[in-house]
Amino acid sequence: MPKLLPPHAKQAYERDGYWFPVRVLSAAEAAAHRARLEAYERASGGPIGGNMRHKVHLLFTWAAELVRHPRILDAVEDLIGPDILCWTTNFFIKEPRDPAYVSWHQDSTYWGLEPHDVVTAWLALSDAPVESGAMKFLPGSHGRDQIPHRDTFHKDNLLTRGQEIAVAVDERRAVDVPLKAGEMSLHHILLVHGSKPNTTFDRRIGLAIRYIPTHVRQTKVADSATLVRGTDRYHHFEAEPAPAADLDTAALAAHKRVMEKQIATYYSGTDIKVARK
Ligand code: NI
Repeated sequence: MPKLLPPHAKQAYERDGYWFPVRVLSAAEAAAHRARLEAYERASGGPIGGNMRHKVHLLFTWAAELVRHPRILDAVEDLIGPDILCWTTNFFIKEPRDPAYVSWHQDSTYWGLEPHDVVTAWLALSDAPVESGAMKFLPGSHGRDQIPHRDTFHKDNLLTRGQEIAVAVDERRAVDVPLKAGEMSLHHILLVHGSKPNTTFDRRIGLAIRYIPTHVRQTKVADSATLVRGTDRYHHFEAEPAPAADLDTAALAAHKRVMEKQIATYYSGTDIKVARK
């Protein structure tokens, strides 16, 4: 029996490459997490960005709690089994009336993770209606293996390299993924997806949490990850420390060290040293 998802969800995920929506937090809990993010943004003088947008579970105690949230992990376990690492987290935030978008892409393109048993839990910390630039999924596209991408580095593209699929995508087949605050979607690393700009007057705040079973390897660099459930019998990834307090000295140092490796993965083949967004 699945722990959290309905009985047919795993079959649908394997066929379509995604499953949504899954209620994880109450609206009030989502608002509380959003408030903690926005308190940091007020204190730091602007929207979270650059390297601070990534691996946030090493920086903030509330993000470290989220990647270990039992409901998220129960759903993820239903798809990839009980031994689970969190490989990374990335905020995808679109400001009100923001031209920022995400081109059609597969997450697998620059990550170096093999095999492709990687699931993203995309958690909405604000409402994310279609008009806010909700994600769009191309059903079944995870069955095509890796598709060539080209880097655009477009200024409004939220992806690290502005990478986009180098072949035409039939957008009429795409499925909108609207979410309410506190809900998440789950998608496969090879699923083709993207999103449009936010045309609403609220921010659209999503936290993408990337989970892997412990047998997955990193083929590009010596990498690290956080064991969030079960046992790691493989030790393909160096263990990461959880933050004792938000942005404390040890957490900032660990995040800096880890991000240097992650940036090398995201930007391999370029001379970029800090996340562009
Ligand atoms: Ni993606």
